Amino acid sequence: MAKAQSRFICQACAAAYGKWSGRCEQCGEWNTIAEEAAPQATPGGLGRGRAGRSLDFVGLKGTSEPAPRRCSGISEFDRVCGGGLVDGSAILIGGDPGIGKSTLLLQAVAALAGRPDQNRDAAALCAYITGEESVDQIRLRADRMGLADCQVKLAAATSVRDIAASLDHAEGPRVVVIDSIQTMYVDTLESAPGTVSQLRAGAQELIRLAKRRGFTLLLVGHVTKEGLSAGPKVLEHMVDTVLTFEGERGHQFRILRATKNRFGPTDEIGVFEMTDTGLAEVPNPSALFLAERRGNVSGSAVFAGIEGSRPVLVEVQALVSASSLATPRRAVVGWDSGRLAMVLAVLEARCGVALTGQEVYLNVAGGLRIGEPAADLAVAAALISAACDRPVPENCVIFGELGLSGEVRAVSQAEARLKEAAKLGFGRALMPPRRKRRGKTAGTEIDAREIGHLQDLVSLLSPAARPVKSQAER
Ligand code: TYD
Ligand code: MG
Repeated sequence: MAKAQSRFICQACAAAYGKWSGRCEQCGEWNTIAEEAAPQATPGGLGRGRAGRSLDFVGLKGTSEPAPRRCSGISEFDRVCGGGLVDGSAILIGGDPGIGKSTLLLQAVAALAGRPDQNRDAAALCAYITGEESVDQIRLRADRMGLADCQVKLAAATSVRDIAASLDHAEGPRVVVIDSIQTMYVDTLESAPGTVSQLRAGAQELIRLAKRRGFTLLLVGHVTKEGLSAGPKVLEHMVDTVLTFEGERGHQFRILRATKNRFGPTDEIGVFEMTDTGLAEVPNPSALFLAERRGNVSGSAVFAGIEGSRPVLVEVQALVSASSLATPRRAVVGWDSGRLAMVLAVLEARCGVALTGQEVYLNVAGGLRIGEPAADLAVAAALISAACDRPVPENCVIFGELGLSGEVRAVSQAEARLKEAAKLGFGRALMPPRRKRRGKTAGTEIDAREIGHLQDLVSLLSPAARPVKSQAER
């Protein structure tokens, strides 16, 4: 087959070239030029094409049916997708290699396809197309996970042309998994599979087909060693939903997070545990994240957080130790290092707790990554507790956002956080001041203590004056 004309476009400034080069002459950026298929019509040549059809404009008000959902029954997965899969939508699942994307999607399509003896009305025709593993490998895995008799159509393929031809008919599958988009190639482009232009062209082709045939497309995208930019990130604007599957390699917990969703809320999380028979749902993540917590040690505080619509309790651990370095280390796992620097600065400037000459390590236990500013107060508590080697009061959860003057600011969904804490047996809470003053929250037995300023927390955790003198005082 004759190759279609392609052109080389700078991804930073959109300059077009006839051949590839390492540096864009127009904007001077390196490695931004990528091959793209030439458009069919000449750019700017609208006058020479067919006459356009005029659009039917409609009002904002109107009746439209909510999109029907296809539920897999794996509730952590369905919830993150916004309540099930929508026909004709494209979902990208990004994550590090080996994190469990293939495992999750195999389980999801197996659940959707059902077993032969199950009610066929609820089952959907599902296809799993692998470009990474062989059919035998997938079969072996399915067998190990006890899914071998599920009615999933399995194929190994990497050519987008072949895949499109197999899916492009009315009785085609309703849910299609492509594992992974990085291994797929479009034969009209000369660049290698996995390059930005191949990713875009392949995804575009498959998404267009999904919309036309009305099936749900699940694309797996590995986060490559160049980072997100050469991986799933370039596809994010093309798909309806972006899910990321994350977790620490050493931990068995995996977190599925929606970062974009045209059919539901974002920032929803689903928690899974990797077991030897696949991923198991974790209906109560707080209990899991706190499972290994040891009470009465300094430098540990329990943060009552909100992930999506769900409250989650996690342990924040801090360690402060003497340093011989000119610039002592600050290492953070699971939180933002800029935010840690801010909390340290507020502690020093407003409360006289100086950790300038010391190394500070902060860790969110269990492999969760916290994005909420509401964790500030819990981090501060862990730091103060570590610095003066006194445990945070037992049985206590903490949340609140810190301002630069040391004031503690209100955060959203305080009641939900307290309820979750009560559910897990916590009896006390340190939290921002509430507008309506109450000692105990309705329906819970939590003794909530309001902290208006960071200094109040310092006095509470280290009653014997200031734990570490500031540089100025020494
Ligand atoms: P996989 O789904 O292949 O990851 P990805 O598709 O994101 O690259 O998961 C691979 C890892 O999961 C592998 O290290 C083994 C582990 N695993 C289990 O622990 N139990 C299981 O049942 C399965 C299928 C995988
Ligand atoms: Mg895989």
